[in-house]
Amino acid sequence: MSGVVEQPVMRVRGVRKSYREGDHALEVLHGIDLDVCRGELTLLMGPSGSGKTTLLTIMGLLLKPTAGRVELLGRDVTALGEADLPAIRRRHVGFIFQSFNLLSALNAVENVEVALALQGVRGRAARRRAMELLENVGLAERWNHRPDALSGGEKQRVSVARALASPAELILADEPTGNLDSRTSAQVVETLRRLAHEEDRAVFVVTHDPGLRALADQVIQMRDGTVADSIRPAGRGLVELPAA
Ligand SMILES: Nc1ncnc2c1ncn2[C@@H]1O[C@H](COP(=O)(O)OP(=O)(O)O)[C@@H](O)[C@H]1O
Ligand SMILES: [Mg+2]
Repeated sequence: MSGVVEQPVMRVRGVRKSYREGDHALEVLHGIDLDVCRGELTLLMGPSGSGKTTLLTIMGLLLKPTAGRVELLGRDVTALGEADLPAIRRRHVGFIFQSFNLLSALNAVENVEVALALQGVRGRAARRRAMELLENVGLAERWNHRPDALSGGEKQRVSVARALASPAELILADEPTGNLDSRTSAQVVETLRRLAHEEDRAVFVVTHDPGLRALADQVIQMRDGTVADSIRPAGRGLVELPAA
């Protein structure tokens, strides 16, 4: 080993968030600390209303915390102005939505090509790369089907392929399996896990399905706007380094 400790892709420290409620502020995140690392699937679990979407939106640089810091690749992004954020988001953060967000007039491979076009990849190179990405999610033979002709799980795998079209180190998904049955959910999350490991991305997934815990490298449990528990399921612990 080199002895160099790789920094997390995202480090969240003391993050608080309040929403305005009429003439007062309602705090929904009360000081969140967490790390998200490359090559790992992290699951964020917790009851409805516990603040999961708010936290994910902050991690996606779409919402500013009221207090605390968010570091992306070691850089404090909470200090940046609105004008700097879209380019950073486009380069470093990929999103997967519950509702798939596929374009219904385009087939599977074209939906992935749209995402590649945003990265400046077009034409034959885009087709080749899009087919590779569909192959990664097990959908190569369905490349010319439109979303209407795909099952829920297949649609979600197209949106996973689309998120992977960007070089983003951090992939965020808010209940991506919310509309899927538990077996299909497990297949989609298994795909996300394999991609985290094989592509060395940090994949961070909100889910309320406890059956998926076993697939995760890290499970973070939220309760009432705090991290109640953060565990690394057996056998996947980080190597503890001796204190300097
Ligand atoms: N834009 C908003 N304005 C005011 N309150 C909000 C807003 N978004 C979420 N909330 C409140 O914040 C709390 C956490 O919501 P959310 O982050 O969506 O939780 P979860 O995703 O875990 O269900 C809830 O009480 C919710 O009503
Ligand atoms: Mg939510």
